[in-house]
Amino acid sequence: MTDVSGKRILLGITGGIAAYKAAELTRLFVKAGADVRVVMTEAACRFITPATLQALSGQPVHTDMWDTRVPDSMGHIELSRDRDIIVVAPATTDFLAKVANGLGDDLLSALCLARRCPLMVAPAMNVEMWQNAATQRNVERLRADGVGILGPTEGDHADREGGMGRMLEPGEIFAEVAAALGPKALTKKKVLITAGPTYEPIDTVRGVTNQSSGKMGYAVAQAAVEAGAEVTLVSGATVLAAPAGVERVDVITARDMHKAVMARAKQADVFISVAAVADYHPVDPKPHKIKRGNGNLKLELALNPDILGEVAALAKGPFCVGFAAETEDLNANAQAKRKKKRIPLLAANLAQETFGKDTNALTLFDEDGVHELPRAPKIVLARQLIEHIAKMLPQR
Ligand code: CTP
Repeated sequence: MTDVSGKRILLGITGGIAAYKAAELTRLFVKAGADVRVVMTEAACRFITPATLQALSGQPVHTDMWDTRVPDSMGHIELSRDRDIIVVAPATTDFLAKVANGLGDDLLSALCLARRCPLMVAPAMNVEMWQNAATQRNVERLRADGVGILGPTEGDHADREGGMGRMLEPGEIFAEVAAALGPKALTKKKVLITAGPTYEPIDTVRGVTNQSSGKMGYAVAQAAVEAGAEVTLVSGATVLAAPAGVERVDVITARDMHKAVMARAKQADVFISVAAVADYHPVDPKPHKIKRGNGNLKLELALNPDILGEVAALAKGPFCVGFAAETEDLNANAQAKRKKKRIPLLAANLAQETFGKDTNALTLFDEDGVHELPRAPKIVLARQLIEHIAKMLPQR
């Protein structure tokens, strides 16, 4: 999924110090065979010159809404019409605010407003600007509008303050764009995914849960959407926003999750069970807060349904993929789990290396053996997993 050859990219550059990295990004796209048209804001031209981008892209650079080189002076429409995607890197907080609110007072923001193709932005700014409530509101708005948000990440900044807000490296932006433009391996497939923890009440304010953040399952959902699938995400309680284009069904307990999954499993082509499902629930949750007593308190737990096991046992059920979070003996436990659940594919990880983290390492187990996916951001692993699933599907 890393081929941008022949793709037509409009690269927008706005006025932040990370603008110099847009030169490297342009080079990566061009080297990979993409046609890159660069549009710069006035502020961007203060950080890097249009001549640099013109040399690297091999095309005239556009900076002006009233450029007479564009037929009919309709640059804000014409320049994006033949494009497969608009990528804005770096995207300043001001630019994000403009696009989130539908402003179009310069060439680049007007192009984004008038676009027919997807838009991806790579924010780059100082940590306070990034954390500012207005910026966060705008980013959420953009996400909800289907704009791809690439990063930012944590690290050194030009202002030497550091923290979240640093733009992704050109190679990382390239990979994200290539994945978005890549072949759609799961077009027209219905993919059902579970994610996050379940919560089993003990009383009205307490419960049994686990440390799953949902990040891996949400990344799998995003990768499946990128691969062209119709995705339903049955999610336990998390703080994450569902990726654009995903239908999300919120559940709390394992029994809720079981009900939501079984109602949809037969219509699905693929079921990916990423959720950390509690195996037990308290037998008798109290309808009030349990008061402190003098002695110990016994909690009786009853077995929850094995959701993945039941879906895998369905006649004409979906292609099932399980996850295994182990704390030791990863390979032996994972192999045994795949056989016990009778599923074609199992992705195993070490619980202590994944829960709550942004990166992970996965080991895939299928009939052909073991496939290692080395440590990488969860979205990268999720794309590799989806690619693996797509390759296995026709063999069913
Ligand atoms: N799973 C499920 N329903 C459950 C428990 C687990 O659907 N009640 C799914 C998980 O989503 C995961 C896979 O089964 O895809 C393995 O989950 P895991 O907790 O690692 O294994 P268990 O089957 O619960 O076995 P154990 O806890 O003994 O390791």
